[in-house]
Amino acid sequence: MGMLRRMTEGNLKAPGGETVRVQLEDNLAAPEHARRATGQVLRRWGLTPLLDSVLLAVSELVGNAVRHGAAPVKLTLSRLIDGIRIDVHDADPREPRLPAPPALAAQTSETGRGLQIVSSVAAEVGVEQIRGDGKMVYARFVTEGDEK
Ligand SMILES: Nc1ncnc2c1ncn2[C@@H]1O[C@H](COP(=O)(O)OP(=O)(O)O)[C@@H](O)[C@H]1O
Ligand SMILES: [Mg+2]
Repeated sequence: MGMLRRMTEGNLKAPGGETVRVQLEDNLAAPEHARRATGQVLRRWGLTPLLDSVLLAVSELVGNAVRHGAAPVKLTLSRLIDGIRIDVHDADPREPRLPAPPALAAQTSETGRGLQIVSSVAAEVGVEQIRGDGKMVYARFVTEGDEK
C-alpha cells in the first residue's frame, strides 16, 4: 500500500499509557500551538531523543490538516511501549495523496514533500478513516534500540 499504511501492528500502548488530546484552531497558528504542546508532553514522558523528528511530523501533519483538510483539527499523542504515536484528525474524509515516485517528481518541487519527509523520520505513517467523521493521519516513532 505504499508509504501510507492502515493501522496494524506496532501500536501497543504502554500499560496505563497516557493519551493527550489537543484541540487546535483552524488557522495558521495551529502548527505552532501543536508543536508547543508536543514539546511539553515529550519532555514529561522522557522522550526528548525523539523531539526533533516528532516536532517535524507534528508541523507537517497539522499544517496539512489545516491547509488541505477541514476543521475541527485535533492532535492526539499516545505513549507506546517503545515510543509515541501522533494522530492528527480532521473532518475531511479525503486522504492525503501519495507522493509521486522520485523519478517522476521534479527534484526542485517545493510541494508534495511533506509526507515524504515525515515518512523518512517515522517508523510508520498511515491513514485511518473515521466513519462519518473524516480521517486521521498518524505517525509512529520508536526510541533508539527499539527499532519496530
Ligand atoms: N489532511 C489532509 N487532508 C486532505 N488532503 C491532504 C491532507 N494532507 C495531505 N493531503 C494531500 O496530499 C498531498 C501531499 O501532502 P504533502 O506531502 O504534505 O505536500 P504539500 O502539503 O506540500 O502539498 C497534498 O498536496 C494534499 O493534496
Ligand atoms: Mg504538506
